[in-house]
Amino acid sequence: MTETLRVNPINPEPEKIARAAEVILKGGTVAFPTETVYGIGANAFDESACAGIFKAKGRPSDNPLIVHISKAGQLKDVADGIDQELREAVKTLWPGPVSFVLKSNGNVPLNVRGGLDTVAVRMPAHPIALRLIEKCGTPIAAPSANLSGRPSSTTARHVIEDLDGRVDLIIDGGDTAFGLESTVINATEKPYVLLRPGAFTLEELQKYLGEITVPESIMREIGASERALSPGMRHRHYSPKTRVVAVSSKETIIRCANEGIGRKLAILCSNELAEEIESRYPVIIKLGPEGSLYEVAKNLFDSLRKLDGMNVDAAIVQCFPERGIGLAIMNRIIRASGSAPAGSLAELKRML
Ligand code: TXA
Ligand code: MG
Repeated sequence: MTETLRVNPINPEPEKIARAAEVILKGGTVAFPTETVYGIGANAFDESACAGIFKAKGRPSDNPLIVHISKAGQLKDVADGIDQELREAVKTLWPGPVSFVLKSNGNVPLNVRGGLDTVAVRMPAHPIALRLIEKCGTPIAAPSANLSGRPSSTTARHVIEDLDGRVDLIIDGGDTAFGLESTVINATEKPYVLLRPGAFTLEELQKYLGEITVPESIMREIGASERALSPGMRHRHYSPKTRVVAVSSKETIIRCANEGIGRKLAILCSNELAEEIESRYPVIIKLGPEGSLYEVAKNLFDSLRKLDGMNVDAAIVQCFPERGIGLAIMNRIIRASGSAPAGSLAELKRML
């Protein structure tokens, strides 16, 4: 069993951070909270320690890790060719939930980079993550702390569920604030390219970074013969064992409730929709109010994880507008369901 260390998320106890840092510096793995989701961290310059991350997660070796830093000065230790404009922008955007793919300077081992000549970097806005990186005095490579393919962990309980016995230490710093991963931007070309919508909204990032290209492929599954812009887009993701079907309109979910569909379904939906259909659907998981999509984001992965304990045939998930944080929410819902949302009741019935 892996030891779980409870750490104050606002004012981390220095002696506990020192213990966790010791594990990292000895080549071990530590799960820790960030403002987005929990990560599994190892010394980003230690190839064999980072190999331990891939092993713990069962992660394909071609899917690179994000390197986490605690001060802007560490950028030059891992990346090359960063222009003045980006240097200025990160002063405002970091610490925060945005990762930049940059040209690697070769210092971060190839396995961390999934064999690429680029490296993804971010400075997390969480006191535990920042203190830990600072105490280690080295960048920390950290993917989300879940078994590969599963929804990311937003609580220490999720981490224990997936990784107990597979990592050397788990820091419990409470629930994560956003509940969705960082936005990933490819900054090696101009205009920049969005590789993964995330907690930092595109609209907000464009105010600081100018135009950002949004490839249409980021909101759908990548075909087997298609080239993925980011390796992570190719792999199965965010999926509970229960089949998930996204439904694009509330009306379709209501009609489905009225007709009865003859299967045991769970519905993941807004509080408002839940109220309308509550009497007809026995299993409803409320994601949050439609006017507060950050709450929906925060509850999404926990709700997907809950499905597997519910003994249902499949789950229907309501779609949300693809604006603001809604873009990241929809990206995760589409990836969890593995196909485009059902538009009509007939289509939904076929997909179930
Ligand atoms: O919020 C987050 O980003 C969390 C916390 C722990 O910081 N981390 C996280 O890491 O979500 P991970 O490994 O689950 O997702 C990293 C994503 C993957 O889709 C990966 O393919 C992409 O970033 N990525 C990493 N390095 C890349 C690179 N050099 N080029 C293109 N994509 C890259
Ligand atoms: Mg992940």
